Amino acid sequence: GNKLGSKKERTLAMIKPDAVNKMGDILQMINDANLILTKAKMTKLTCWRRACFYWSLHKTMFIFSNLVQFMTSGPVVAMELMGDEAVSVWRRILGPTDSGVARKEAPPSLRAQFGTDGTRNAGHGSDSLASAARELEFFFPSTAGHGPANTANCTDC
Ligand code: TYD
Repeated sequence: GNKLGSKKERTLAMIKPDAVNKMGDILQMINDANLILTKAKMTKLTCWRRACFYWSLHKTMFIFSNLVQFMTSGPVVAMELMGDEAVSVWRRILGPTDSGVARKEAPPSLRAQFGTDGTRNAGHGSDSLASAARELEFFFPSTAGHGPANTANCTDC
């Protein structure tokens, strides 16, 4: 609904390789939260993609190689979600970062249901409006015809 004081937002939601086969349940959770699916893309993250995407998420790279291995182990589904406070609503659906913690603190959450641990954790959500803008542009570039998105900022490949 369009309640007084509510804020329509867009966020980037990503289903990680370990939960792509749970898309049916996940779309139901999105629907139940009154978020609208406005874009979706299934894609396999390649070298430049994984590097650029996670570079922006992690300035410290101590967990990077495990994460990269997992994130490139199969396809991911990237989605643009729209709705009132979409950024925080989607992160609430995800639950705590570590799926083990999520099972204790938020059993109905996506990570509790479909993830394994602190790396294999089923989903990603932008943590702010600024991250959402950057991550949406990464997966759904607004300027067509200029090759892969964000390679200009990529220091790794
Ligand atoms: P982070 O931004 O801390 O959490 P969130 O995904 O909830 O925003 O971490 C990003 C991803 O990095 C996280 O989803 C999985 C991975 N990660 C690890 O593999 N190990 C870790 O110890 C942490 C903190 C994150």
